[in-house]
Amino acid sequence: MAGKNPVPWAADQHTKAKHAVYAQYLDKWMPIMVNGWEADITYAEGFSGPGIYLDGSPGSPVIAIKALVAKSEIRTKVKNGGIRFVFIDHDQRCIDMLPNELKKATEPVPLEDLSAHGVHVSVEKGECEPDLQRVLTREQAWGRPILAVLDTWGGAISFDLVRRLADNPGSEVIITMQPQYFARFASVDSIEHGDRVFGDTNWRAVATQPRENKDRWLLQQYRRTIQKAGFQYVLDFELIDKRGQSLFLVFGTTHEKGLTKMKEAMWEVDDVAGVGYRDPRDPNQEALAIEFEPNTAPLKRLIIDHLRTIPDNQSSIAKLRKFALHNTVYKESQAASVVREMVADGQLIRANGRSHDSRLSFTDIVELPA
Ligand SMILES: C[S@@+](CC[C@H](N)C(=O)[O-])C[C@H]1O[C@@H](n2cnc3c(N)ncnc32)[C@H](O)[C@@H]1O
Repeated sequence: MAGKNPVPWAADQHTKAKHAVYAQYLDKWMPIMVNGWEADITYAEGFSGPGIYLDGSPGSPVIAIKALVAKSEIRTKVKNGGIRFVFIDHDQRCIDMLPNELKKATEPVPLEDLSAHGVHVSVEKGECEPDLQRVLTREQAWGRPILAVLDTWGGAISFDLVRRLADNPGSEVIITMQPQYFARFASVDSIEHGDRVFGDTNWRAVATQPRENKDRWLLQQYRRTIQKAGFQYVLDFELIDKRGQSLFLVFGTTHEKGLTKMKEAMWEVDDVAGVGYRDPRDPNQEALAIEFEPNTAPLKRLIIDHLRTIPDNQSSIAKLRKFALHNTVYKESQAASVVREMVADGQLIRANGRSHDSRLSFTDIVELPA
């Protein structure tokens, strides 16, 4: 049911940081997919909002459409069949406002003429479930890549919808969720919603977790849920403000390149006042400023913890790069430079007999000191 809160509403700092990540990612996704699939692709939102915030800043649908129309070098490659944009929200007020915001973004081409240029936009009032799947079917989106942005107020979406998207070739999801939503309700009445989101009842064990561990534990469960649904590569991270309030972003893709591009997007965003990242896997839960050369102390801790779990406590640098890509918020390139620093200051040693000062290459092996 639509809420009683005003529409539009104020954008908090998390929202601004989230939008900065979306914009960076779309600037990478759009040209790759338009070129690779002749633009026969879909960008879909199941929780679109009105496309604008109280301060006039754009909502995610506007950011997405601008990632295409503001770039003549990709816009002009959209031919015939064309690209689809699907926006669903259950609040009529959002659905009334969104076309106008999209129209401003696509000027001078009127929204209703975009179709003639191969850009098909659907804005529809409905519930994300089941209406998103229905509209994607009507728009003949299945069978080609879909980027689905599912920006819930925290309750996430059903496992079945994630699986349906994961089964579709070349698709990706971005889901916002609040573990607190589930931690709070695990022992009361929204338990069935949790079962639908996680795809089984294992998540209910959150009730037995110590209070300080519940959020991280749930996020770990959710990461597994997204993988079980068919997204082999998952990146989840926390946007955290100065008051310690957080928003979790979970990204799933079936392509390693998607993961690499999302990592690049994360670390290329401009600083958003007062918001940082946190790696949910970091045992110390250290907040990281959003900057191109981030604090790598959590990555060092994670590499040490990882080496402790593997035989002989040693690994090639190439494998540590992949470890960072798949299991942390850091990029492969950040892992390589961190390992060099760790060797230089003795936290790691070289295991293949070369002297300390010769350059480390990806095939070199490092290990924990005895
Ligand atoms: C977090 S806001 C979306 C923000 C938007 N994606 C952005 O970043 O600009 C969530 C939106 O989801 C809508 N909503 C909540 N539950 C929904 C549901 N079950 N189906 C469709 N829309 C829903 C709300 O009306 C609200 O506009």
